[in-house]
Amino acid sequence: MTLSPPWRKLVLVLHVTSSLGFVGAVSAFLALAITGATARPELAYAAYQAMQVVTWQVIVPLAFGTLLIGVVQSLGTPWGLFRYYWVIVKLVLTTIAVVVLMLQTQTIDALALAAIGGNLDGYSGARFSMMLHASGGAIVLLIATVLSVYKPRGLTNYGATALGGRGAV
Ligand code: HEM
Repeated sequence: MTLSPPWRKLVLVLHVTSSLGFVGAVSAFLALAITGATARPELAYAAYQAMQVVTWQVIVPLAFGTLLIGVVQSLGTPWGLFRYYWVIVKLVLTTIAVVVLMLQTQTIDALALAAIGGNLDGYSGARFSMMLHASGGAIVLLIATVLSVYKPRGLTNYGATALGGRGAV
């Protein structure tokens, strides 16, 4: 199934908006994680409470939106889901980012709760881990962005057969 040109444009707008929104929101999360780990206590408490709001209301919806719309976009265009290595790498990187994000939500909720209680004692490991995971996430999403723009040529064997030697675009 191939999307007609107007639908392809619309899905591309949704894909670029959600995926780059995801990148921006993870950058905001990283700023809050650094503030939480390094600022004076009152500011750190505020940062961890804001981090929880940003996670559940912005990052999680955009993360799932990016994955879902990316798959629709791939299947609805000649790029396909398994024809080009750059698409497969983006799928894998985004899936890893979503899984790690969901695994971290427990720690994010725990930090927000401790911040509301005004006591972050015993959370130094979690605070450092937030900075580490947010940095890793930002790097992974940056790689996905670079791949999206450069679209390296590499075709998979399946892609070569499916496209019969022609490129997708
Ligand atoms: C955070 C992760 C992602 C980012 C930052 C991202 C970013 C982008 C951007 C900026 C474009 C537009 C490139 C252009 O028009 O020149 C694009 C296109 C595309 N993306 Fe993603 N993307 C991400 C995840 C995914 C995923 C998970 C898939 C599917 C497995 C996917 C599949 C595609 C495809 C097939 C296109 C080409 C669409 C077309 O030509 O109509 N992307 N992506």
